[in-house]
Amino acid sequence: MACVKMRWIYVSLVVLGVLCLYLSPYTLNPFEEDSFVFKKESGNFLQLPDTDCRQDPPFLVLLVTSSPEQAYARMVIRNTWGREQTVMGKQIKTFFLLGTTPDKDVSKKVAQEIQQHRDVVQKDFLDAYFNLTLKTMMGLEWVHRLCPQAAFVMKTDTDMFINVFYLTELLLKRNRTSRFFTGYLKLNEYPIRSRYSKWFVSKQEYPWDKYPPFCSGTGYVFSSDVAGQVYNVAESVPFIKLEDVFVGLCLEKLKIKLEELHSEQTFFPGGLPFTTCRYKRIVACHHIKPQDILKYWQALESSWEEECPHS
Ligand SMILES: *[C@@H]1O[C@H](CO)[C@@H](O)[C@H](O)[C@H]1NC(C)=O
Ligand SMILES: *[C@@H]1O[C@H](CO)[C@@H](O)[C@H](O)[C@H]1NC(C)=O
Repeated sequence: MACVKMRWIYVSLVVLGVLCLYLSPYTLNPFEEDSFVFKKESGNFLQLPDTDCRQDPPFLVLLVTSSPEQAYARMVIRNTWGREQTVMGKQIKTFFLLGTTPDKDVSKKVAQEIQQHRDVVQKDFLDAYFNLTLKTMMGLEWVHRLCPQAAFVMKTDTDMFINVFYLTELLLKRNRTSRFFTGYLKLNEYPIRSRYSKWFVSKQEYPWDKYPPFCSGTGYVFSSDVAGQVYNVAESVPFIKLEDVFVGLCLEKLKIKLEELHSEQTFFPGGLPFTTCRYKRIVACHHIKPQDILKYWQALESSWEEECPHS
């Protein structure tokens, strides 16, 4: 009887020991063992835009994250705020950041679109919402390697309205050349631990209670030197799928402080109702459908000479 009991205790101890060994990497060091770190050597570019920044350095490069299916949004942006243009004597260029899709039809259409416009930066990773950090880092790598001559870079998205005129004016006024980073500042944000949220982040992925200061991923602007600095430090920063937080972690490590572009609010990640006078004095607004981008752009262009009451 006692012998059977002893044997059970022995078996239980062995099972417990094995379980401990198996679980210890996760419980003792969740971060090192289970999470992924951004790797700089993550593949060659599949597509590069047809531009030579050395010969023809742009003042401002707009990098627009978009998905393969968003051909219409890209077309609208090419014809509105993303048109190649000169503002106050400064050249502005827009390029789209893309991953790849398993959908053969979409893939074929994207290939034709790229052939026609040559304004896409693409690498071989699955184009999915939670690969946005990879997509952003691809954009920064492109600036670092192929377009460090640009003075400023904006990273933004397809559902945005960008007033490139006002942005250029403010950047010229600000007269900063290095270690400059601006946008809609988020200085006190916390990880969302509710599994039902789109922005749920597990303690495994991000064990700390607070996010570093970062700028809303809907649109942020930086001096081009920041691209290389962030890219180079990215491997030594914990990876997080929220690209704006990831860039914030890199900036914190680099001790680059976020700055306001202007004393008045110019970035609107929560949207803003359209009036020409209001939109003349904003830089970026979120939640704008392609049809509205067209409408607002036309209204803004045709009212350029109109005076607005100063608020
Ligand atoms: C991101 O891309 C990689 C490489 O294609 C892929 O293996 C991974 O599943 C993608 N991640 C998500 C969240 O889709
Ligand atoms: C911009 O700053 C530089 C020095 O950093 C200065 O020489 C130049 O005069 C400034 N330009 C304007 C327009 O303020």
